[in-house]
Amino acid sequence: MVSQSTSFTSSNISYPPTLLPLQSPHRIGRKIVPNRILFQPMEGCDGTAEGAPGELTLRRYLRFAEGGAGVVWVEATAIRPEARANPRQLWLHNGTVDAFAALAMAIRVACLHTNGYAPLLILQLTHSGRYSKPQGKPAPLIAYNNPLFESTPISEDCILSDDQLKSLEEDFGTAAKLAEQAGFDGVDIKACHRYLLSELLSAYERPGAYGGSFANRTRLYRNAITAAKASVSGDFIVTSRLNAYDGFPYPYGFGVTADSADDAYGIPVPDYTEAIRLAQELHTEYQMPLLNITIGNPYVNPNVNRPADTPQNRAIEPPQVGVERIIHAAAVIQESVPELPICASGFSYLRGEAVNAAAAFIGAGKAAFAGFGRMAFAYPDFYKDALAGELNPSKLCLACGKCSQLMRAGTVAGCPVRDSEIYMPYYKEHVLHRT
Ligand SMILES: Cc1cc2nc3c(=O)[nH]c(=O)nc-3n(C[C@H](O)[C@H](O)[C@H](O)COP(=O)(O)O)c2cc1C
Repeated sequence: MVSQSTSFTSSNISYPPTLLPLQSPHRIGRKIVPNRILFQPMEGCDGTAEGAPGELTLRRYLRFAEGGAGVVWVEATAIRPEARANPRQLWLHNGTVDAFAALAMAIRVACLHTNGYAPLLILQLTHSGRYSKPQGKPAPLIAYNNPLFESTPISEDCILSDDQLKSLEEDFGTAAKLAEQAGFDGVDIKACHRYLLSELLSAYERPGAYGGSFANRTRLYRNAITAAKASVSGDFIVTSRLNAYDGFPYPYGFGVTADSADDAYGIPVPDYTEAIRLAQELHTEYQMPLLNITIGNPYVNPNVNRPADTPQNRAIEPPQVGVERIIHAAAVIQESVPELPICASGFSYLRGEAVNAAAAFIGAGKAAFAGFGRMAFAYPDFYKDALAGELNPSKLCLACGKCSQLMRAGTVAGCPVRDSEIYMPYYKEHVLHRT
């Protein structure tokens, strides 16, 4: 056990003093969130063929609910069948809304029962764009061809027309309405990790209404937010997970300019001018009450997106450099738009120091929330154990990349190391023994 030597007593509960910034409640819209821990969206690829949460989905969220995060951000959920990233990705529609309602209720009840409060529940709405694989085979729907990602261009037929993009706005509205019906507190209009809305942010050379200028590249994103807001009641939260920086050179990455130089590891130095402008607009024009900041692309530059303790990551850069880059992105946006609560990503790599680092970061006002992804898979109780001074090193996420390998192998994703009874058999079958 990693014990804390001193503790602070408040309302008869003792917490390690260093963790106090995380225990401070925060208002999001009209809701009060009891602490600053946010469980990031973590796809398990374990829904039913129809897109409803499956048994393993429910198991994952019950574990998350008991973990005590103030915000549970439910994973990527497709707005259309062809927008699914895998045949078991969640998909919200009239036929699955009751199953989503049961999931939301189960999370609330479990958290209330275990922790005495209900977490803020956000549902991430996605169009997987170039990473769409609804039948298990790539079926990309792209904003533009990108020679950095494919040496052979994707067929022109897969480039979504302006009319096709326009028609998606209404789908985000419909999905937001269903999410409210299902009992979520809010939706995330996902614009990260180079899925469709994120890819559009860097469509500098696309002709027409969705490419070129900042206004055009952000058009679908802003209109999807508007459609979602118009479809729900005033209390319902419309938020977003936004890539502030993609990590690719201009004209193929958001958050860089034609003048951006490379850093010591050959990665373009971020230019946050447009991300700050967007965050300011989200705050002032769209009254967004919370923004979840991330960077990179899990398929092409995973070292930027989720630093890992792997030889592949170390061959590019020390993972600590990646952690610094990803949390710095959130700090820049938070400093530039202080009234908009920002969630930072990328703490899991820090393992035994992750909670302390998050507390210092939040305490210094660098962001309002600390998001945890892989750690929540491996050790959903890490925060409660840290508060009790009983963080267990043998349960920590190792940032070993095995959860991502499961996902890439097209099977269910979880932690084969720390949740081995469930996920190691899948890892052996689909990753280790793959022929
Ligand atoms: C298996 C797996 C599934 C993920 N699913 C999602 C998802 O559904 N939506 C999303 O925005 N990010 C997703 N992510 C990214 C995480 O939310 C998070 O940004 C990333 O793991 C870095 O945070 P961490 O260091 O705390 O893990 C996923 C990552 C992994 C490894």
